Amino acid sequence: MIVAPSILACDFSRLSAEVSKMAEAGASFIHLDVMDGVFVPNSTFGPELVAKVKTPAIKDTHLMVINPYSRIPDFASAGADIITFHIEACKDEKEVHACIELIHRLGKKAGLSIKPLTPVEAYAPYLSEIDLALIMSVEPGAGGQKFMPSALDKISWLKERGLPLNPNLYIEVDGGINLDTGRLCAASGANVLVAGSYLYGHEDYEERVKGLLEL
Ligand code: DX5
Ligand code: ZN
Repeated sequence: MIVAPSILACDFSRLSAEVSKMAEAGASFIHLDVMDGVFVPNSTFGPELVAKVKTPAIKDTHLMVINPYSRIPDFASAGADIITFHIEACKDEKEVHACIELIHRLGKKAGLSIKPLTPVEAYAPYLSEIDLALIMSVEPGAGGQKFMPSALDKISWLKERGLPLNPNLYIEVDGGINLDTGRLCAASGANVLVAGSYLYGHEDYEERVKGLLEL
């Protein structure tokens, strides 16, 4: 399992140390939640902070923003390795294809995310193009929410439909992940687990990362 700690739950006054300790504990992704206050009610940070995060881990950038096409180049320049945007932020299929192509043209991996109420079949036109599918298991916009089990069937669908087309597809789940919900996601076919509040702010974070890694 790949573990992607979300810095949303970290102590931002010690950002470098907070990022390093997760990488040292075995997390090979660092999940960066970008919120614009429009696509979701909260706002977090932009490309300036993404550029400041120095880590050997893969910068897994989750854009919860409107007009992703116009924002993607700045995040690519900021050193994001994976750029994930929301299907709900695009007006039509053409725009989704255009964002994926743009991310690839900029030399990055492209991720596509859906909110809990969006049916998983929405991925169908893009399965052979994307590098990562990010299933939201909470309503995007805040950490510390409860896992929604409706994510599990979506993960299974991606495993059945997506992996034959792209054996390297990352199937990532985000929201309410702990050892129990992480186990359910792993059993359904997830290969990347995002976790914020379960990992940050706990003395035993190393054990927690290891627990998830072993799923
Ligand atoms: C929610 C974010 C998540 C969030 C996860 O909009 O996309 O990445 O930080 O936080 P936890 O693990 O606390 O649910
Ligand atoms: Zn996220």
